Amino acid sequence: MTSLTDTASWRQLREHHERLATVHLGDLFAAEPGRGRRLVAGAAGIYADYSKHRVTDETLRLLFALARERGVERWRDRMFAGEPVNTSENRPAWHVALRAATPPPEVVATLAQMRSLVDRAHRWALRGANGRPLRTVINLGIGGSDLGPRMATRALRTLDAGRIRARFVANVDPADLDAALEGLDPETTCFIITSKTFKTVETLDNARRARAWLARTLGDPPDLAAHFIAVTANRDAARAWGIAADRVFPMWDWVGGRYSVWSAVGLPLALAVGMAAFDEFLDGARAMDEHFQTAPLESNLPAILALLGVWYGDFFGAQTHAVLPYAEDLRELPAYLQQLEMESNGKRVGRDGAPVDCATAPVVWGAAGTNGQHAFHQLLHQGTLLVPSDFIVPAQPATGTDPDAHRSLLANALAQSAALAFGGDDPAAPHRRCPGNQPSTTLVLPRLDPHSLGALLALYEHKVFVQGVVWGINSFDQWGVELGKAMANGLAPALGGREADGADSSTRALIARIRAAGEAD
Ligand code: F6P
Repeated sequence: MTSLTDTASWRQLREHHERLATVHLGDLFAAEPGRGRRLVAGAAGIYADYSKHRVTDETLRLLFALARERGVERWRDRMFAGEPVNTSENRPAWHVALRAATPPPEVVATLAQMRSLVDRAHRWALRGANGRPLRTVINLGIGGSDLGPRMATRALRTLDAGRIRARFVANVDPADLDAALEGLDPETTCFIITSKTFKTVETLDNARRARAWLARTLGDPPDLAAHFIAVTANRDAARAWGIAADRVFPMWDWVGGRYSVWSAVGLPLALAVGMAAFDEFLDGARAMDEHFQTAPLESNLPAILALLGVWYGDFFGAQTHAVLPYAEDLRELPAYLQQLEMESNGKRVGRDGAPVDCATAPVVWGAAGTNGQHAFHQLLHQGTLLVPSDFIVPAQPATGTDPDAHRSLLANALAQSAALAFGGDDPAAPHRRCPGNQPSTTLVLPRLDPHSLGALLALYEHKVFVQGVVWGINSFDQWGVELGKAMANGLAPALGGREADGADSSTRALIARIRAAGEAD
C-alpha cells in the first residue's frame, strides 16, 4: 500500500492546509449564514454540529477521499464480518457481534446467563454464605475490565432501581478497595472478578484481599463461593481460584478489553440498572453500528469525527483532544475514552511493522462541565495550544432533575463552544482578549438514557477504528503496556530488600531512598 503521506489526497490536504491555516472560524460563519444548520449530521438519535471546525467543503471532500483511498469502507466491512482485523494477534475485533440483531450463539447464551443472574439478584434470591440476600456488588477489574461498566453505571445512575448497588475497584493500591468496602456488610456483599486473562496482578491482588475481608467476618466455615462471580476468558483459572462453575461468565479472545462493556463485563451495570435497560444500551449501539455500516462517508458520523481528528492532529499539529460532557453523570467518560483512543491508536508502527509517517492518537483528556470552566478552560480561551474538543450535551434532563438547573448547564455548554470558536475582543485590554478559533463538535443526545449512551460509545469506537485505518495501524492490540508490567514484576523484590539486578542508576537510587524512608519510620 502507498505510504499515507504519499497518497494523492494527503498531498492535496497538505497544500489545502497552507491556504486554510490562518482562516478564522468567524470568517467561515460570516461567509455562510446557514453554516451552523448545514454542517450537521445525525445518527442513532444523536445530533452532531460540526460547523465550528476549521474546514471548508474542499477540506471535507479531501478528507473523505483520503478515507476512501485508505480503504475505510473495506476495513469496516471486514470488521463487521468478524475477519481478523487485529492483525498482530491474528484475530477478529468483533465487539459489534455483542450487540448484533442476531448475535452468535455464545453471546445469546451469555446474555441469558446474565438475565437469569440479574433476575435472581433483583428478587433477592442471590444469597450469601449466611443466607442473606446480596445487595452490593464490587467489580474488581482494571482498564477495559473496569472503565466501561464504571462509567456506564454512573451515567445511568438515575435508572438505578435501588436494588443492587455497584461499586468499582481497580487500583492495586489497597486504599481503593478499603474505601469501597467502607460501610459494607460482608454478608450482603458480592465481588465480581472481571479479568479477561485472569492474570492481571492488580485484579488478583484485590480479589485476594476481598476474600480475606470476607473470611475475617463470615467466620467458619464460610461458603465464600457464594460471594464471588467471575467474568473471564480464562475459565480454568477462575475455577482454580474457587469460582463456582455457574458463576463464571465468559469472554472471548475476539473482544478487546476496552470494547467489552457490551459483554458480561457489563454485568455490574446490568445488576445496577436492570436487564431491560442493558438491552436498550445494546440497542443504541446497534443503531450506531447500522448507521456506520450504511451511511455514505459524507454523512457518516463516526467517519466525520475521525477525519476531523486526523485533520487537526496531522495537519495543524494538535496534540490533545478534549472531551467535555455537560452532564455530571458522564464525568467518567473522559477516562473511558482515554483508554479507548489512546490504547487503541497510541501506536508508532503500521500493520506492516514499518514506522508510521504521521501523528497518531492525541492525548485525550477532559472533565464534566461546568467544572472544567473554572479550571482549564482559561487555557482553551487564551492559551497558545490548539485544542479541538467535543461538547456532549443531553437535551433533556434526567427524570427528577430541576429543569432550570439543566437549562443553566446547557447555556454554559453553548456559551463555551461559541466563545471558543468566535472569541471576544477588547482593544483597550489585550489581557482580556479571547482570540477564538478553537474548534469543537457539539453532540446533542436526546437525554442521558441507555439508548443514547450505547449509541455514543459505539460512535467513539467507530471513530477510533476509522482513524486507525487511515493511519494504517492496528487499533486492537496494546503491546506497549507489557514492558512496564514486566519491569514492575522485577522491581517488587528489590523494594523488599533484594538486589535490583539490571536496574538503572536512577531506579536504584529511588529504591534506596524509598527503603531508607521505610526504615526510618
Ligand atoms: O494492561 C492493559 C490491559 O491489558 C487492558 O487492555 C485490559 O483492558 C486490562 O489490561 C485488563 O486486562 P484483564 O481484563 O485481562 O485483567
